[in-house]
Amino acid sequence: MLSKREKMAMRLSVSNQKGGAGKTTTALNVAGALNELGSEVLLIDFDPQGHATEGLGFEDLYDDPEQDSLFEVLPDLDRMDDLEDLIVEHQEMDCVPSHVRMINAEDELSNVMRREERLDMLLDNVDDEYDFIIVDCPPNLGVLTDNAIVATGHVLIPAQAKSTSIRAIELLFQQLRSMEQAFGDIHEVGLVANEVGVDGEADEMMEWFKDVFDDKENCEVFEIRKRVALQRAWNNGVSIFEHEEDCDMEDVYLDIAYHLEEQIDG
Ligand SMILES: Nc1ncnc2c1ncn2[C@@H]1O[C@H](COP(=O)(O)OP(=O)(O)O)[C@@H](O)[C@H]1O
Ligand SMILES: [Mg+2]
Repeated sequence: MLSKREKMAMRLSVSNQKGGAGKTTTALNVAGALNELGSEVLLIDFDPQGHATEGLGFEDLYDDPEQDSLFEVLPDLDRMDDLEDLIVEHQEMDCVPSHVRMINAEDELSNVMRREERLDMLLDNVDDEYDFIIVDCPPNLGVLTDNAIVATGHVLIPAQAKSTSIRAIELLFQQLRSMEQAFGDIHEVGLVANEVGVDGEADEMMEWFKDVFDDKENCEVFEIRKRVALQRAWNNGVSIFEHEEDCDMEDVYLDIAYHLEEQIDG
């Protein structure tokens, strides 16, 4: 018989405080790849800007004033059982959409008890219904990102193959190591070099990524090139796997999905 722990979802944050690093593209397409392999996936759009919500075709919910959202649930200890009510179904995955009110969520959380642990508490109630729970993080290192990291304990880091990514990653590592002091182990599961071009800077950055990430336990470097098909899939409200065009990056997203599955089995 499986123990409780073995039945629970693997939780993963897609995180980099730099905007435009490829978080949302990575989150949607890794979720699509895991679905393709037969897993049940929940995607949580934790970015107040709601790009993943829009990318799955739920933009109407994002600015519906009547829509209940994480903004109301996260700060309210009496509502820790209510995540289920926020889940909507997409053809490839379940989703907790963002909401325009989430722009005020960091302020709202600033004075509550155990403010970094709220998402963790919420996920405990849905965790046995999924194989993977993926959190698309906002582009800053605030209390929402802290919540995502504490709740998941696993981080997938997308970054452009540009020298400006180095500082962002070093800062993110600092944040992860300092959070480990308070909340326990946090594992970097991979680096997704995104929109990799064919130039000297990209080559040098791929070397740097491999130097830094390949030494970490169970951590791999993946390489996603710039492809308009990825943007067109997003515009059509699906991952690259449900999008009509073929795209050579599907194989890389599948590799990431296999890598994640191995960590569960392993
Ligand atoms: N590999 C790629 N090929 C083409 N366009 C991409 C690729 N990755 C990201 N983009 C585009 O770049 C922009 C920023 O990417 P996004 O995933 O939203 O980054 P983040 O979530 O980190 O801010 C989006 O418009 C997205 O469609
Ligand atoms: Mg994003």
